[in-house]
Amino acid sequence: MTVTWSIEDAEKGGYPHYMLKEIMEQPRVLFETYTGLASSRELENAAKLLSNAEKIFVTGAGTSYHAGLVFAYYMARIAKRPVIPFISSEYLAYRDMDHSNSVLVAISQSGETIDTLQAVRSFKSSGGRVIAVSNVIGSTIPREADVTVYTRAGPEIGVAATKTFLTQVLALTGMALTLAQYNGSMTQNEYRKAMDTLKNAGHAASAGIDRSIRAVELLASSLRSKGNIYVLGRGLGVALAYEAALKIKEVSYIHAEAYPAGESKHGPIALVEDGFPVIFVGVPPREELHEKLQSNVMEMKARGASTIVVGVSGYDDLKGVDFYIDVGNYDEILAPYAVVPPFQLLAYKLAVMLNRDPDKPRNLAKTVTVE
Ligand code: G6P
Repeated sequence: MTVTWSIEDAEKGGYPHYMLKEIMEQPRVLFETYTGLASSRELENAAKLLSNAEKIFVTGAGTSYHAGLVFAYYMARIAKRPVIPFISSEYLAYRDMDHSNSVLVAISQSGETIDTLQAVRSFKSSGGRVIAVSNVIGSTIPREADVTVYTRAGPEIGVAATKTFLTQVLALTGMALTLAQYNGSMTQNEYRKAMDTLKNAGHAASAGIDRSIRAVELLASSLRSKGNIYVLGRGLGVALAYEAALKIKEVSYIHAEAYPAGESKHGPIALVEDGFPVIFVGVPPREELHEKLQSNVMEMKARGASTIVVGVSGYDDLKGVDFYIDVGNYDEILAPYAVVPPFQLLAYKLAVMLNRDPDKPRNLAKTVTVE
């Protein structure tokens, strides 16, 4: 008998790459993260610290920073607390401040990224308290933090973060909701309802994957020859657009750039000409964003852009859209889980079509431990 598969193949669980396997694992690991948090005191401990803070900062590198932007958005909308987000390597700007009434939320999948660790140490040395959000139990950042909220994504082998991003978003959303209940921005009832909604994050991810998988194949075929892509969003869609563009550039090496859609006419639009792909991220609240997104689509279309929307239901009536992926009808809490997987799949497909290794992109490391 000849064994024709390797241990690595077995670990990929039948998928050709870890990245695809990890994208597909999202429905399960989101549920595990939810149930793990629901049966621990992690969110309560974090929310207690946040409720006593005068100033709240959030930091991370790469994908973790984008999860931080989602956190800042929900904190403002749901818990009515402003949060200052900064990229970990830029911690020096806040070094000389008194942080005795500050809390820093430090997001790091690995718990080892040197820039994030430096930010943690800098805040602690000026009196700040730290909440770590990490996927690795006992890693350095959780060890140095006052409180840790763990994601339960399991090991992530693909260098570009996928499943860990949405589990971070889930943990951070849980944190914002718990704080909102503590500080009275949400009633007990509203809080319970929102947590019940969050329980369905895995279902939303599953629907996002199922509803986009074929369309993404078509979209990737039309984008594979492009040199540049814009990803534009508004509101919650801004952070998701940043993550989408990062994913595309990391694994396909196509230059993808994200902007808040409203900012696109302050510079980026100068590059738009015939066939330039512009992807719009459509998120709730539709009533507030639809009209504004419509004018951004028209501005791009008028310059010859090829316009694509990846979004929740309700954006199908946008005029001037060439290609639309409707991920289903989700509210502001669940939208990220349905909207992000199509972008991860798009990045993956583009990499495969262009013969790049999506699991090990050139020049990138899974964990960066040098400044
Ligand atoms: C590297 C990885 C990214 C990751 C970032 C932060 O750049 O390639 O995928 O988002 O580090 O990693 P962390 O472990 O701190 O979340």
